Amino acid sequence: MTDHPLRNTPSLDAFWMPFTANRQFKAAPRLLVSAQGMHYTADDGRTVLDGTAGLWCVNAGHGRRQIASAVERQLSTLDFAPTFQMGHPIAFEFAERLAEVAPGGLDRVFFTNSGSESVDTALKIALAYQRAIGQGTRTRLIGRERGYHGVGFGGISVGGIVSNRRVFPQLAGADHLRHTHDPARNAFVKGQPEHGADLADDLERLVALHGAETIAACIVEPLSGSTGVLVPPKGYLERLREICTKHGILLIFDEVITGFGRLGAPFATDFFGVTPDLVTAAKGLTNGTVPMGVVFASRQVHDALMQGPDGIELFHGYTYSGHPVACAAGLATLDIYREEGLLTRAADLSEDWASAIHDLLGRRNVIDIRSLGLVAGIELEARPDAPGKRAYDVFVDCFQRGLLIRVTGDIIALSPPLIVEREQIGEMVEVLGAAIDRVA
Ligand SMILES: Cc1ncc(COP(=O)(O)O)c(C=O)c1O
Repeated sequence: MTDHPLRNTPSLDAFWMPFTANRQFKAAPRLLVSAQGMHYTADDGRTVLDGTAGLWCVNAGHGRRQIASAVERQLSTLDFAPTFQMGHPIAFEFAERLAEVAPGGLDRVFFTNSGSESVDTALKIALAYQRAIGQGTRTRLIGRERGYHGVGFGGISVGGIVSNRRVFPQLAGADHLRHTHDPARNAFVKGQPEHGADLADDLERLVALHGAETIAACIVEPLSGSTGVLVPPKGYLERLREICTKHGILLIFDEVITGFGRLGAPFATDFFGVTPDLVTAAKGLTNGTVPMGVVFASRQVHDALMQGPDGIELFHGYTYSGHPVACAAGLATLDIYREEGLLTRAADLSEDWASAIHDLLGRRNVIDIRSLGLVAGIELEARPDAPGKRAYDVFVDCFQRGLLIRVTGDIIALSPPLIVEREQIGEMVEVLGAAIDRVA
């Protein structure tokens, strides 16, 4: 065992860990202490290949000097300044640079600190917009089953994961489309499945049920990540766009995981060629280095709120909206993405990625494999008596053998940094395949 800074650290008791089985973890902790490029180092000195870009966020890989230097410079120049009735140049500069790569030309930019805040911000902007254009009866928000939109009360109301919802009350008036997962017709598909565009017609059903004049917005992840990598069926997003337009409903794409190159285009909006009215993002925005999120809004939405008497147009914002240090990290991140072509690199790799991942077909208990861009979902058959346990065991096995994967229920999700090399893809599939075989 090597000497390590985490030896002799305080006990693990005080940190109440998020989305973690705290007692189980603290009985057998997994600690990461440093990272560089495609790898973490664990506290026992082992190297761990990062199959998940941290948590879908470290798109340019770990330990980027350029970002560290920009952050350091910014901290010693202007550590903090308010953006309420005050401003600082770097926030405007970052917004301007983001506008240049904005999904679908949605070039008005509202800063937040996380994906959850971006979602709640987008929902509030949608409500404010409808009211501003004289459609104040539109207060309903439509999400989708199996959607994940973070953990704010807005996000869980439109979200569709039961464990995140059952304990907490939700916004009145939220309703849900059915999810698009249809393994009976779409199993083991590379790319977009053929069947299921008609599921978008659920929105017509909700219009018929509630009345269009009560619905402000519909939010979906163009590709659902956290709920186990659900790729949209061909034609589905296009259909949803048509129905929203027809009924005056704003369409919001939650691109917290698909933003910044994950599918092979800068945003899923560009990849699918379907333009919503609002897009939420976070994660890859600063390469995971400094917490930050963003909402991209169309001019139409933005300009509708810039009317009326002088004064604050939107009573919403965060102390740290446009934080100078996060902006510095974000600008350096955008530079790296551009210099290294990372926002489109997944397009070059996606075919090799898909064929490597789909090689897992036929392994023990694998009941579906799905992939798009540099994302893959591998679904295992749940143990009858213990749902989620089989994938969790695979996760632990992989970690012990030097690979970080992510599991949700019995689905394994892979989303490596966009700098991944082909041989590392091979290594991931090899370690994962062996783990799946070992875990009964
Ligand atoms: C689609 C989507 N929306 C929102 C969020 C929430 O982001 P955060 O954890 O930064 O609040 C996530 C996080 O995984 C996400 O995948």
